[in-house]
Amino acid sequence: MSQQTPDAPAGPVLPPVGSGKRVRVHHLTAAKAAGERLTMLTAYDAPTARLFDEAGIDLLLVGDSIGDNMLAHENTLPVTLEEMLPSARAVARSTKRAMVVVDLPFGSYEGGAQQAYTAAVRVMKETGAHAVKFEGGARVAEQARVITDAGIPVVGHLGFTPQSENILGGKRVQGRGDDAAERLCEDAVALQEAGVVAVVLEMVPAPVAERVTEILTVPTIGIGAGPACDGQVLVWLDMAGMGDWSPRFAKQFGQVGAALRQAAQAYAAEVRTGAFPAPEQSYQQ
Ligand code: KIV
Repeated sequence: MSQQTPDAPAGPVLPPVGSGKRVRVHHLTAAKAAGERLTMLTAYDAPTARLFDEAGIDLLLVGDSIGDNMLAHENTLPVTLEEMLPSARAVARSTKRAMVVVDLPFGSYEGGAQQAYTAAVRVMKETGAHAVKFEGGARVAEQARVITDAGIPVVGHLGFTPQSENILGGKRVQGRGDDAAERLCEDAVALQEAGVVAVVLEMVPAPVAERVTEILTVPTIGIGAGPACDGQVLVWLDMAGMGDWSPRFAKQFGQVGAALRQAAQAYAAEVRTGAFPAPEQSYQQ
């Protein structure tokens, strides 16, 4: 985490909730310089996007984790750009303040700069989102450069990259050991030089994430990468206790799944007894 420097602006650099101002790319680096931590959550639909935006979450990620969290796939690999677009549209339409970042799904960008550019332009034209994200380091730096040159902000994603889980041997911590840590730093620098506006670090040892955070001028956003990152991101279902399982690095800040089940049970019980709808929920004429 960067410390506040003497020439950093006084007061918060991120737009206050309710100010009518949106979080933009220049706020991200300014927040890092000012030591203001960035908050990011996934969102896949309008109601959650609206709630998280009102709660002051700085960045909303329409993640390809929609695959395993919403579409009942085993992982993110089957997700298509066609599936991402309606979700991204709903999230973008439902926010006033948050920067909306959309994942380019597996198979939509790895083929080269032209393929990635085409996918990124579709996201921007058809959804109203503000940035795209994709996985990988030096191997996709050219894609990041071309998309950035086209005026589209890019967020990088290093460490455990779920779309490559088959080559990584499953969901495993990345960057362990000196060589792997060095490669991670090199990838981070390659992405920054290509123009990315932030880098997500997933499942990386905390000291390695701290080193990357120190090296980069753009913010790091950690998920399972320790407390030194410039911001944190979680899948919202893990954050809110929506399911009955969440990864070790996540913390449940609520029990939304249990509350929802309870509400459905209470509704069903009242329908069965005839208590709902009561006279006040009925039209008499
Ligand atoms: O798709 C996603 O939810 C992500 C986060 C894990 C960062 O990429």
